[in-house]
Amino acid sequence: MFPVSFLTLMGLLALSFPAALGTDFRSAFSVARTNSMEGGHEMVIAFDKVYVNIGEDFNPKTGMFTCRIPGAYYFSFTVGKFPKKNLSVMLMKNKNEVQVIVYDEHHHKERKVASQSAMLQLDYGDTVWLRLHGDPKYALYSNIGPYTTFNGYLIYPDISSSYQNTNDPYVPQTYEGVKVFRGEVAEPNEVYKESPMSADQPPIERDPRSAFSVARTESLVGTEDRKSQHQPITFDSEFVNIGKDFNLSSGEFRCRVAGAYYFAFTIGKMPFKTMSVKLMKNHNEVQAMIYDDSSDKKREMQSQSLMLSLRPGDTVWLYSYRDNGYGAYSNHGKYITFTGFLVYPEEPPKPQTPISHQKLQVPSKDI
Ligand SMILES: *[C@@H]1O[C@H](CO)[C@@H](O)[C@H](O)[C@H]1NC(C)=O
Ligand SMILES: *[C@@H]1O[C@H](CO)[C@@H](O)[C@H](O)[C@H]1NC(C)=O
Repeated sequence: MFPVSFLTLMGLLALSFPAALGTDFRSAFSVARTNSMEGGHEMVIAFDKVYVNIGEDFNPKTGMFTCRIPGAYYFSFTVGKFPKKNLSVMLMKNKNEVQVIVYDEHHHKERKVASQSAMLQLDYGDTVWLRLHGDPKYALYSNIGPYTTFNGYLIYPDISSSYQNTNDPYVPQTYEGVKVFRGEVAEPNEVYKESPMSADQPPIERDPRSAFSVARTESLVGTEDRKSQHQPITFDSEFVNIGKDFNLSSGEFRCRVAGAYYFAFTIGKMPFKTMSVKLMKNHNEVQAMIYDDSSDKKREMQSQSLMLSLRPGDTVWLYSYRDNGYGAYSNHGKYITFTGFLVYPEEPPKPQTPISHQKLQVPSKDI
C-alpha cells in the first residue's frame, strides 16, 4: 500500500485533469466546404477551409479524421441542402459503420441546412468522416459563405488505455494499478503534504467525468392513449455512457457530478405530423424545444443545444408531445440523437485548512 500522502497526491493530479495533461492531449478540428457536391463515386466529403486543426488529426483533402488519442470525442456537422436535390449525409466510423444521419427530401428550390451531432468512443487509428449518398439525386450545397461545416474535439482522453511508448512523459504509467502521468510527478522528492481534512472526507472523486450519447432507430407516433403521454423519449442505441448516468430504457439522464453540462439533440420530422420536442429538467421544467408544424409529407430534421447547471439528482430528458397529430421520425440511419456531457465540474468546497505545498523529504521509493 502507498502512504496516504501519495494517494492524496494522486487525488490532486486527478482533480487538475485534463489541464494536467498538457498540450499533448489536445485534438480538435473545425472545417468548412466552400462549394457544392453531387452524389457520385466519391462519397467522402472533403473540405477546403480549415479553421482549427489542433493535433493535425483531420486531413481536409481526404476528409478523414484519424484518432491519435484514444478517448471520447464530440462531433457535429451542418450540411447545406442543394435546391431540388435530396440530402443524405452520414457520419461514418472506419470503413462502413454508420453512426448518425442528416436527411431532407424536400423538392423545393429553397436552400437550407440540417445539423446532427454525436459523441463517439474512439481507439487509436479509428477514422471518422462524412459520407454523401452516392446517387446523383443527392447533393449538398455550399458556397464561399460556407453552409457545410464539420467539427470534432476530444472531450475525455481515455486514461485507462495502454500506450506503447513508455518513454513519453505524458504516457500513463501504472503504479499498482493506478494510472498516472509520469510527466506530472515532477520532482522525485516533492510531494504535497497530506491535508488534515482528508481523513474524514469521502475519497476525492478521482476523475469527474460524465457523458452520454444515444440514438433512437424507431419513430415515435402520437396516439390517443393517455398512458404513454408525459413519458421521456427512450433510446435503443448507445455511443457512449461514461459514468452510466443515462438510462436508455427510461430515457433519463440523472446528474451525479454537479457542474455545467452541454446538451444537444436532433429530431427527424415525421411525414404529415407536427414535431414538438422539449428538453426537460426534472419533472416539468422546459429548457429548450424544437418545433415544426409544416404539414407536408417530407422528412427533414431539426437540432437544438444548450448548457445547464445541474445539481446531483437533477434529471434531464426529452419530451415529445404524444397526442395524435404529433410524431418524430427515425430509422436505422439514426435521425433521433441525444448527447450530453460535463463541461466543468463544480468547484469542490475549499478545505478549511489550505493544503500546504511545502516540501517534505520522503524516501524516493514512495514515488
Ligand atoms: C427524393 O427522395 C424521394 C423519396 O425517396 C423521392 O421520391 C424523390 O424522387 C427524390 N427527389 C429527387 C429530386 O430525386
Ligand atoms: C432504468 O429505467 C428502467 C425503466 O424505468 C428501470 O426499470 C431500471 O431500473 C433503470 N435502471 C437503472 C440502472 O436505474
